[in-house]
Amino acid sequence: MKPEPVISVKDLSRRFGDFTAVDQVNFHVERGEIFGYLGANGAGKSTTIRMLCGLLAPSAGQASVAGHDVAKRPERVKRAIGYMSQKFSLYLDMTVQENFQFFGGAFGIGRKALRARIETLIEELKLSDQRHLLTGSLPGGWRQRVSLASAMLHQPQILFLDEPTAGVDPASRRDFWRIIRDLSAKGTTIFVTTHYMDEAEYCDRVGLMVDGRLSALDTPAALKQIFVPGRILRIKGMNRSMMPLLTQVDGFLDMEVFGTGFHLRVEPSTGPNAVALQAWLKKNGAEDAWVERVSATLEDVFLKVVGAADKPSAQKVQA
Ligand SMILES: Nc1ncnc2c1ncn2[C@@H]1O[C@H](COP(=O)(O)OP(=O)(O)O)[C@@H](O)[C@H]1O
Ligand SMILES: [Mg+2]
Repeated sequence: MKPEPVISVKDLSRRFGDFTAVDQVNFHVERGEIFGYLGANGAGKSTTIRMLCGLLAPSAGQASVAGHDVAKRPERVKRAIGYMSQKFSLYLDMTVQENFQFFGGAFGIGRKALRARIETLIEELKLSDQRHLLTGSLPGGWRQRVSLASAMLHQPQILFLDEPTAGVDPASRRDFWRIIRDLSAKGTTIFVTTHYMDEAEYCDRVGLMVDGRLSALDTPAALKQIFVPGRILRIKGMNRSMMPLLTQVDGFLDMEVFGTGFHLRVEPSTGPNAVALQAWLKKNGAEDAWVERVSATLEDVFLKVVGAADKPSAQKVQA
């Protein structure tokens, strides 16, 4: 039997005046799942989250979260979920523990239960060295961890995290994701937005938002298979002006500028391997070219999906 979805979204839209920030989005999230919501700035991620958290009324469509309709029962939704907003919302001039006490009180948790809950969270999120420090004195990664803890004081079954790792250093980002994975393993459902493509690899499923539309939705592996099948060869040390040459490579599928180099995608059966391509490039004027085979990343997928969304005949994948 398929588990009941804990988040169900049907044709959800939000307009601001004439502008459509979220455009007929559809998806389901199951219990314990880590659902990544990806997109560039302005794609509509926060607007979606705010509707799902009962903080912003939808213009059209429906969403149910933890069994409650977000438009009809926003207060129930708010009690059932934890929300970590994109903007840091704790008091910087209070200690970590004081913030927990304050926000726990605001949630209506009784004193004794709250004391126990704070101890559990401090232990689980390894905050014992920080508990008596001023929140404002903590580095970004630790602040985000404190924010996460305070979103969990009332033991929500679903956590909405809006760009929780924005501006946080890579090591702290990895630690943060370890915590998220642990929470999910224990049954908490995580809906998380990010614009870091590498983080999306940690998600069970990923939805890609482009200009308010959910342009693709699947597991990271399936997204790669669907949008960037074939062999990907990374080319470095080649001048950009030589890009047209790549279209003449056997089995050519497509190419993208990628960082300081290029990603060329070829048919695995007819295209060259890295060694053969490097030799071919050298022969054709790119003496310093250096080629290696790489795995598809979600960045490749994203470039492909955004590229497709720009064209009128865009292939749209909806859940
Ligand atoms: N309250 C608002 N009034 C008008 N426009 C808004 C409002 N909130 C968001 N928008 C617009 O909606 C679009 C999506 O915003 P947002 O959901 O915050 O994107 P993201 O979180 O993906 O960066 C943006 O163009 C933003 O300017
Ligand atoms: Mg946002």
